[in-house]
Amino acid sequence: MADYSKKIMVTGAAGFIGSHVARLFVKKYPEYLIVNLDALTYAGNLENLRDIENLPNYKFERGDINDEKRINELFDQYHFDAVIHLAAESHVDRSIIDPLAFVRTNVLGTASLLNISLKHWKDNLENKLFYHVSTDEVYGSLGKEGFFTEETPYDPRSPYSASKASSDHFVMAYRHTYGLPIVMSNCSNNYGSHHFPEKLIPLMINNIKNNKPLPVYGKGENVRDWLFVEDHATAIDTIFHNGKIGEKYNVGGFNEWKNIDIVHLLCGIMDKKLGRPAGESAKLITYVKDRPGHDMRYAIDASKLNKELGWKPSLQFEEGLEKTVDWYLQNQDWVNHVTSGDYQKYYDVQYEKR
Ligand code: NAD
Ligand code: TYD
Repeated sequence: MADYSKKIMVTGAAGFIGSHVARLFVKKYPEYLIVNLDALTYAGNLENLRDIENLPNYKFERGDINDEKRINELFDQYHFDAVIHLAAESHVDRSIIDPLAFVRTNVLGTASLLNISLKHWKDNLENKLFYHVSTDEVYGSLGKEGFFTEETPYDPRSPYSASKASSDHFVMAYRHTYGLPIVMSNCSNNYGSHHFPEKLIPLMINNIKNNKPLPVYGKGENVRDWLFVEDHATAIDTIFHNGKIGEKYNVGGFNEWKNIDIVHLLCGIMDKKLGRPAGESAKLITYVKDRPGHDMRYAIDASKLNKELGWKPSLQFEEGLEKTVDWYLQNQDWVNHVTSGDYQKYYDVQYEKR
């Protein structure tokens, strides 16, 4: 273990964003040891990491962030210098069905991980780092104008965003009360490969492919700010290495889209890829009952990260979406695997009465 210049626990690295972060770090920093700690919930899938699983500086450890004994043992075994914390329940619709699952993982799990990190590091906090990965949803919902900055007051409105806001507060409390070295980032909606098909973009791609209705909530006018997941991973790399201790950074693509416009864009791309007549897939669009408490608009001002640390997104949205569609069409085994079993049950509960 002593040969590695840093030993990093990445929680939730079997999930969507975590797998991209782990891949980037494992490949870019062979001198770091990356330990993926993941409970493998419905959203966690080791297939996401097939290309790095045999590399010597990557290890997988199955475990729940709430399992104090297990996490303590891993700290004793690996002597982590840093934690990059992505493990979470991450889907707003599921948080409406089962809010307490979000409290358990996102609030209690994060607090427990902070506590254990402090316990193991407190005698020498130098060169230690707890990096908390959070979301722009903690800031609430915008009207037509304005952006979320790092100073925007928290105003979470769904059980998911309330649980993430609470975890952010615990992270800051551990900084202020105990001096734990932390950084935090709040990112906008991600898209890209390995995205679980319960979220808007992969769900629409999958339904278009299978000629199923495309369920657009309400009038489809809600706005999200979309960032390619690999750009989020490079932002995390930048902040991990150069971010100021105790600070938070907003991450986003300055890339706002109405949901209905994204669905049309995807239909157009898929018509071409699947050889369907133009306009064919758009016939599947079905307006359904709105999500309760549906936030109207998210838009991130990521200028602090750009000005202070020089990060910017690499891809235009249309290019990123096309890459994403290609990945899903070329990885139907992955899609079939993750949508078998429990996915169908969730889909029926979520969409049958809308
Ligand atoms: P995801 O749902 O795809 O993956 C979450 C991972 O965490 C899974 O591998 C799951 O098995 C694991 N996990 C869940 N509960 C766990 C527990 N109790 N113990 C250990 N592991 C557990 O999520 P994602 O979209 O990759 O999001 C990752 C992080 O980024 C989350 O903290 C999320 O809030 C944040 N975030 C996501 C987005 C987005 O657009 N997806 C945007 C901004 C921030
Ligand atoms: P989602 O991908 O769940 O991310 P979030 O709610 O965290 O932003 O949803 C993105 C947007 O798409 C959101 O406004 C809700 C909407 N949406 C639909 O219209 N239909 C769907 O089936 C889903 C999953 C989402």
